[in-house]
Amino acid sequence: MTGSKTRLAELQDHEPSLDEFRSGVIDGLSAPRKFISSKFLYDARGSRLFDDICELPEYYPTRTETGILERHASDIARLLGPRTRLVEFGSGAGTKIRILLDALDRPAVYLPVDISRDHLVAASTDLARTFPELRIAPVCADYTAPFALPDVPGVAHETTAGFFPGSTIGNFTKEEAAAFLAGTHDLLGSGAIMIVGIDLVKDIDVLRAAYDDAAGVTAAFNLNLLRRINRELGGTFDLSRFRHEARWNDGLERIEMHLVSLRDQDVAIGAQRFHFQEGETIHTESSHKYRLDGFRDLAARGGYDPIEVWTDEKQFFSVHALRAR
Ligand SMILES: C[S@@+](CC[C@H](N)C(=O)[O-])C[C@H]1O[C@@H](n2cnc3c(N)ncnc32)[C@H](O)[C@@H]1O
Repeated sequence: MTGSKTRLAELQDHEPSLDEFRSGVIDGLSAPRKFISSKFLYDARGSRLFDDICELPEYYPTRTETGILERHASDIARLLGPRTRLVEFGSGAGTKIRILLDALDRPAVYLPVDISRDHLVAASTDLARTFPELRIAPVCADYTAPFALPDVPGVAHETTAGFFPGSTIGNFTKEEAAAFLAGTHDLLGSGAIMIVGIDLVKDIDVLRAAYDDAAGVTAAFNLNLLRRINRELGGTFDLSRFRHEARWNDGLERIEMHLVSLRDQDVAIGAQRFHFQEGETIHTESSHKYRLDGFRDLAARGGYDPIEVWTDEKQFFSVHALRAR
């Protein structure tokens, strides 16, 4: 991928292995309440389906966060300063970063980190076309495990910043989120600015519709996990025997995505068999919703001081600027 015309560096490839995927799935399906980590939803097809979700009328987070970033891009650029080294966690299609890149003063290098390798390569290639002067160094990694940022030769940066949009941090439990933030603190260093998108607690019907759209795209995204298991791990899931469900968990203030078994059935993954009772579910994703103070407290536990927070007029979504202590 390295070329004289492009400033796109070769991919640093730490994609989780098939063995990690297999053991993650088998451990989760062996638990008393079956679950599979949401990080496995993102194979190439899952990433494309997620991009489709972002366009849905019910999925308010993308357009609301995009609006906040557009309104405050110059405030963010001022905070980050010139020649920043910008690390994005869970960069996906790389759409929102364009808003910041347009506003930033000569960004030194952009390092998108994502578990979904092919999607990351495609998004980085696209971005390099739009920003031909920008150094881009993509990293395929599971950010829940330790990983190092590559040294990009010839890059002199004045500041370091992190960007974690999409309320993806909501996929973690509160404890995991604090630990994740502490990890980014170590990775980015003291003084780094972190910009995080956080979805807020709101009317339950609005929330539920965002995770169970009328066109069935979120259902296809969730069920794609079973298709992926069949393809990559030799699973025998019959997708017509499961359905998608989005539930609001009031105690934990989170939306949960589940795959509900429509009948008693057995499923094999290689040599392992798993029994499902009718109505039993696999919990595949949580999306925790926050209140402004609740997230500030969490950020403090992760070693960050709050600097600013911006919201939309309905108070649906928030973008926080934090500084690593
Ligand atoms: C909810 S999407 C958000 C995408 C984009 N940032 C946005 O705001 O629209 C989550 C993104 O994080 C990536 N991701 C999920 N879990 C991950 C993990 N453990 N390590 C690295 N990337 C992960 C997914 O591949 C996906 O691109």
